[in-house]
Amino acid sequence: MNYVSKSPLDTKRVAIELVESLSARDHALVIALDGDLGSGKTTFSQYIGECLGVHDPIQSPTFLIEKIYELSGKPWQHLVHIDAYRLESERELLDLGWRDIVKKPSNLVLVEWAEKVGSILPEDAIHIVFTHEDETTRKIEISTP
Ligand SMILES: Nc1ncnc2c1ncn2[C@@H]1O[C@H](COP(=O)(O)OP(=O)(O)OP(=O)(O)O)[C@@H](O)[C@H]1O
Ligand SMILES: [Mg+2]
Repeated sequence: MNYVSKSPLDTKRVAIELVESLSARDHALVIALDGDLGSGKTTFSQYIGECLGVHDPIQSPTFLIEKIYELSGKPWQHLVHIDAYRLESERELLDLGWRDIVKKPSNLVLVEWAEKVGSILPEDAIHIVFTHEDETTRKIEISTP
């Protein structure tokens, strides 16, 4: 699915539509986010969190690599927000317990800069690519397996 977002509000609408289309799996649901610096990956992640009832503000986890938010609703109990930008290799994410995170159906996982860890993403991950077109325009391409 391809979208052209003309404002953060447009991007919020895309996030809402995506969340409404999601369903749980027998392992974690992984959403891989790619695109240049400032293309909107964190903004989109914040809207996803908002839709799922996260109260704490979702911040860019760039310096933390990973941040986990509690979700009150079903089917997901945790929103795991990962920023792979600073990772040197997939090994570093594996060392953060990636295999266990991905195993749990109760985890919804957002990975910014997912291309950095492409080889360890589940095959059924949803891929979203953001393109910075101009100051307020972003192309958002969503591929679901
Ligand atoms: N149509 C739009 N959709 C989303 N964000 C937009 C849009 N227009 C302008 N913006 C702005 O673009 C910026 C996107 O920054 P954001 O931190 O989400 O990017 P990012 O892809 O996570 O960058 P990084 O790779 O540095 O983590 C925000 O300041 C946001 O307000
Ligand atoms: Mg970001």
